[in-house]
Amino acid sequence: MKYYDDILALIGKTPLVRINNLTKQHKIKAKVFAKMESLNPGYSVKDRIGVSMVDWAEKEGVLKKGGTIVEATSGNTGIGLALVAAARGYRCIFVLTDKVSVEKNRYLKALGADIVVCPAAAKPGTPDHYVATAKRIAEETPNSFYPDQYNHPANPAAHYRTTGPEIWEDTEGKITHFVASIGTGGTISGTGRYLKEMNPSIRVIGADPYGSIFKVYKESGQVPEPTPYLVEGIGQALPTGNADLNIIDEIINITDRESFDLARQLGRKEGIFCGGSTGTIFAGALKVAKELDENAVVVFIVCDTGEHYLTKFHSDEWMKEKLLLEPQRISAGLILETKNSGAPTELLFVSPSDTVAAALEKMNECGVTQLPVLEDHHSVGSLRESRVLTKLLQDRDLLESPVAKIMDESFPVIEPDANLTDIKKKLQKAPALLIEDFKRITGIITRSDVLDLNR
Ligand SMILES: Cc1ncc(COP(=O)(O)O)c(C=O)c1O
Repeated sequence: MKYYDDILALIGKTPLVRINNLTKQHKIKAKVFAKMESLNPGYSVKDRIGVSMVDWAEKEGVLKKGGTIVEATSGNTGIGLALVAAARGYRCIFVLTDKVSVEKNRYLKALGADIVVCPAAAKPGTPDHYVATAKRIAEETPNSFYPDQYNHPANPAAHYRTTGPEIWEDTEGKITHFVASIGTGGTISGTGRYLKEMNPSIRVIGADPYGSIFKVYKESGQVPEPTPYLVEGIGQALPTGNADLNIIDEIINITDRESFDLARQLGRKEGIFCGGSTGTIFAGALKVAKELDENAVVVFIVCDTGEHYLTKFHSDEWMKEKLLLEPQRISAGLILETKNSGAPTELLFVSPSDTVAAALEKMNECGVTQLPVLEDHHSVGSLRESRVLTKLLQDRDLLESPVAKIMDESFPVIEPDANLTDIKKKLQKAPALLIEDFKRITGIITRSDVLDLNR
């Protein structure tokens, strides 16, 4: 029979996949390979350290039968540890920040973990910080093991023992550049150490979000004031024990916009569905590879799967809300779906047979200055408060007339997939546009809805 002893036996031995379309697009001569850590059973690079830290704790007698694993995690280490806990019968409690995606939070619960969420804004060292909270819970929980992935030597050791040799063997020793992110620093330090031992001229490059401290810290020895960023799982507010900056030759800062854009492009152009930190790393890999010739072999880490971020940067709505969506992806339908922060909005309109007084009352009540006039879901005209009032000044009796008598021409009608350029052009001439879907008017876009995109 052909089978694995348990789910943990599937961890590692992830393949390298060549990047083709995006390298061509960026006129890159070097070979660029993705190390597919998203194909681990918990869908991230952190499966490797979950099992190695628990192996250490069992060997040292720190974790005994029926014990509890308590860890502070941005999700993926929790998933790696939860796999071990499930397979070997431990309980686990994970402390996350409220920045962690709902997908990772639910995934951990589905694996049987208990979850505590702390504010991402809490400063390191304060009692509400997720690391301090995890430590406290561990101290209060009998027979518990607190791995402390930020400092535990079994973290980089897992990558030294497995990730590094796999890359070395799969590239037949031809790798010239290794690019990874720095969260705990375990991946880059462990893999980088192995690769440099095999060939000291291999360059190890860290890709880190703007706002994290690592670049300034490496270059000046000073720890700068961190600033918030949106990419999950990487970058730090303080140095970590496992980020060995001597192994890293260079650190490149990457914006959230570049990270999410490139993570999304890896899905669309290469079929590699990945998380935001992979976008950060790939952005760094492209910057490095642009300067290299065809003899160079660049390997970058695909840290985790895009499924963890379907409600975040893989959603156009979320990207639009964060003002990060590429303008060519903004359609009339998307503007409609996401206006008023996504709260469902009823289309306000009047019928041609309604009285002008009723129409004015509706405008007043709803705080709008214009209304479409619809009949049987089709647009037959429009009302603008200022024009209606001008007409009423001349003839007050019009108040009791039907709207049809004084209405203006219909607002232009567009399809849901109309693009932002078209929408802007049409809004130069008309104050609002109507969206028609399956021959029914389903919504209205006003100039302020479009201005909101550039808040
Ligand atoms: C999504 C994601 N990417 C990258 C990393 C970075 O890996 P490391 O902690 O080994 O530096 C982590 C974990 O910290 C992560 O969760």
